[in-house]
Amino acid sequence: MTPDDYWRGNARLEHLTPIGQRFPEVGLFDALRQACRGSVFELGCGDGRLSAAFDPERYTGMDINPAALVRARQSNPGHRFTTEWQPADTVMAYTVLLHVPDDELPAMMRRLQAYPRIVIGEIMGRRWRTPGLPPVFNRERAEYEAFLGPAREVIQVPYPYYGTDLELCAW
Ligand SMILES: C[S@@+](CC[C@H](N)C(=O)[O-])C[C@H]1O[C@@H](n2cnc3c(N)ncnc32)[C@H](O)[C@@H]1O
Repeated sequence: MTPDDYWRGNARLEHLTPIGQRFPEVGLFDALRQACRGSVFELGCGDGRLSAAFDPERYTGMDINPAALVRARQSNPGHRFTTEWQPADTVMAYTVLLHVPDDELPAMMRRLQAYPRIVIGEIMGRRWRTPGLPPVFNRERAEYEAFLGPAREVIQVPYPYYGTDLELCAW
């Protein structure tokens, strides 16, 4: 099973966040609003947990998991959710790219580079990689910078569940 197969079939919406932890990050919404500009396209929006941080008129969430989109629409009836990539001022991938295997990353980065502003949020560092289901492919920030150049802004978001900070990086 590929990671994409896992996420598409994730009808029980497992592993969107650590089990039992709806918002394990500290100060997340403020950090997201600080990082993003203008209209926001959220790649991998899951059940729409982050949509409430944004004006419904300036937010579109997308996911490959139909069950997640059903839940997102139920919980956030004012926001827009879709199965297709959409243009926006900012594309945001929050704890999504770490689920993309290395050999699929270049194609994904090319798609992100079509947006004026790119925001990537995740716990950086290869030491966080684990096989499991789903596997996680955490990377060094420098690996994203190899595609995008030096990040313009890096916001540290405390993530006590893992005893570290998540990095919200903007280009
Ligand atoms: C860990 S969850 C994070 C969800 C959301 N960003 C949040 O923080 O609540 C990862 C999400 O990315 C989605 N996903 C994984 N690969 C994807 C891809 N190639 N394109 C779009 N969404 C993807 C999964 O279905 C899942 O909903």
